[in-house]
Amino acid sequence: MAENPTNPKRKQARPSKANVSAARAASLKALKQVFNGQSLSAVQMHTTDKLEDARDRGLANEIVNGVLRWRWQLEFFISSLLKKPLKPKDIEVQLILLMALYEISECRTPDYAVINESVELVRKSGKKWAAGLVNAVLRSFTREQEKLLSSIKDGVVRYSHPAWILEKIKADWPQDWQQILEANNQRPAFCLRVNQMQHGVAQYQQQLTEQGLESSTVALADHALKLSHGIDVRLLPGFAEGAVSVQDAGAQLVAELFDVSAADRVLDLCAAPGGKTCHILERYQSVNSLLAVELDELRMKRVSENLHRLKLEARAKLIAADARDIKQWWNGEKFDRILIDAPCSASGVIRRHPDIKTLRRASDIEPLVKLQSEILNAAWQTLAAGGELLYVTCSIFKDENQNQMQNFLTVNDDAAEIKIEANWGRPCDHGRQLFPGEQDADGFYYCRLKKAD
Ligand SMILES: C[S@@+](CC[C@H](N)C(=O)[O-])C[C@H]1O[C@@H](n2cnc3c(N)ncnc32)[C@H](O)[C@@H]1O
Repeated sequence: MAENPTNPKRKQARPSKANVSAARAASLKALKQVFNGQSLSAVQMHTTDKLEDARDRGLANEIVNGVLRWRWQLEFFISSLLKKPLKPKDIEVQLILLMALYEISECRTPDYAVINESVELVRKSGKKWAAGLVNAVLRSFTREQEKLLSSIKDGVVRYSHPAWILEKIKADWPQDWQQILEANNQRPAFCLRVNQMQHGVAQYQQQLTEQGLESSTVALADHALKLSHGIDVRLLPGFAEGAVSVQDAGAQLVAELFDVSAADRVLDLCAAPGGKTCHILERYQSVNSLLAVELDELRMKRVSENLHRLKLEARAKLIAADARDIKQWWNGEKFDRILIDAPCSASGVIRRHPDIKTLRRASDIEPLVKLQSEILNAAWQTLAAGGELLYVTCSIFKDENQNQMQNFLTVNDDAAEIKIEANWGRPCDHGRQLFPGEQDADGFYYCRLKKAD
């Protein structure tokens, strides 16, 4: 296991004792909502992000992300230590146990403090009857941790992934599945994209150093800098003035592969929150007519805000519409370059969004593949002869990637693949796959298509 919750070397810093109860209560609230089907980013705004002290927010995020990463292994510990399983109506008790087991394994808080706080939290959650049970389970865990860890045989428990994701990754990547699963349990890199319209990378790195922020360049992407520690983005030098954006290095490869010329008419489908829209405009400064289309109006507001902060709004037109219904957004003039950053399973970004393992279902994949195919077919109609389309997902599932491309190429005689030659990722039957964790980037798939002249 690359990263193990029971490895004491990885123990994290903790806030002062006075803050710990609030952090745990907020973590419990956030986890309960994620287990009820809501995305972590949506619930964080109303729970852990509301904690006033940055150290509390740090601990709460550590606990929530840790539980979502290691859920399957922590559940194995609980089921090994309980005589009979908890009932679904006692979800708070289950979550408090998951949180405490993660903290005992991974955080610097002394075991006795975690146990006392957890017993207190279970009382406050209206489950007084479970106080003794929580106390007993956690005490047993502190004694039996090593034995339990060495008894793990099952892959689901070992790699802490739901069975369907584990099996799908194993089937798609028989040589690499263990490495992928291990990378999915790592903490993601904090990667920046320096706005090349304002600064060179070395110049901006100097500004970071002057602020005491340690960073390193990233071989994968030429305008990327990796920060050694996470930070509130508002504290980054020049952030409000558009000097820099937060964007994973794998996502930054998209603009590089997009290869736009000055006079090109550019279409960016599925654009929100606009990371790639902005990067394309930063990189190709002569592009003056980019159309960005996004289904979700609220998310489209984020595109607008990002363009505004980076002073790029004059060069892009935004339409909130369904990409599949070209009547809603197309005026009949063909595009020379199209980017489809398709809605997908997000199986390549599990390390950044560990809630995916809890929220996604195997049955989600087929409808997603259909949606991607419909968006592709719609976009193709608007592409000029000789034009290029770049298809991107943050997935590692072949159904959404090379199989999707295979089906498209089989049906469309006027489509041909332009092979991506690169010193990163894996060539696929069609397109190229970057694995999660490779060069510390997220997992992305890219395929370039050209329309016959
Ligand atoms: C992977 S995200 C795009 C990320 C974005 N390109 C960026 O770099 O910031 C996929 C987006 O597709 C949007 N989407 C889903 N179905 C859509 C549809 N039918 N038409 C247009 N956009 C859609 C989602 O709302 C989501 O914002």
